[in-house]
Parts: sequence; structure tokens; C-alpha cells
Amino acid sequence: MIVEDLNLFLANLNVFYRKLQNYHWNIKGEDFFNVHAKLEEFYDDINEQVDEIAEHILIIDGQPLGTMNDYLEIAQIKEAQNEKKDSRSIFETILKDYCILVENATKVKEDADNEKKYATSALMDEYLLDYGKKVWMIRQVLMK
Ligand SMILES: [Fe+2]
Repeated sequence: MIVEDLNLFLANLNVFYRKLQNYHWNIKGEDFFNVHAKLEEFYDDINEQVDEIAEHILIIDGQPLGTMNDYLEIAQIKEAQNEKKDSRSIFETILKDYCILVENATKVKEDADNEKKYATSALMDEYLLDYGKKVWMIRQVLMK
């Protein structure tokens, strides 16, 4: 069901937003300035997507989940801890998280196509392009 798929996606986006800002605060190491700024870019993008996905659920007559309890109950992305973290371990973690978002958007698109909800399907294309680019860039960062 598309609404359930979208609410799972929304839950992951909300947890990921908090996680990215946590890392923005707790990044340590000599590349602090670059990574601190990059993480802010990443969570700003996610924040816009939170609003867009919630409103899209309303557009297709669903009810978006709106509480932290709801999100934490179903999210596949796990929260960060309250601790300093170096950039490599941050990028390793968020690479996996972006791959979860790719899976979420792919599932929404497949179900939307099956139900002939083509606007929802088209919207997912933007997300898949965005996440695909970020996955590529983060992989380059991690390359030795
Ligand atoms: Fe900040």
C-alpha cells in the first residue's frame, strides 16, 4: 500500500534528519569544517523532503504520521548516539542509511506504478536521483 510505504519513508526521513544534525554537532577531526558544513546541506535536503512527503500523503488522501513515537516505532534507520564521531565512521553509517532511503523510494515507486498513481511514481524519480548522487559521492569519500 502506497500510504504505508510513504509513512515508512517519512519515518526514516525524520529519524535521519535528527541523526544528520547530531553528526553535524558531534563531528570531530581535522576535516571538521568541511564535514560539518556538508552534513548541514544533507539535513537541509532531508528536512525539505520530510515536508514534501507528508504533504504528498495528504494529497493522495492518506494520513501522515506526525509524532516521534510513530517514527521511532517503525523506522529502519537507527538514531545516532550522544558522542563525538570521526568523519569516516559518519560517512560509512550514512551511506547505509541513504541505501535504505533508496529502497524506500523504489518500493513506493513500484507500488505507485502498480496502482497507476503516476504522480507519486514521478515524484520518487527525483528522490532516487538525489540519493543516487549522494551514494556515489559518499563512496568516493570512503575510497582509499
Ligand atoms: Fe549548525
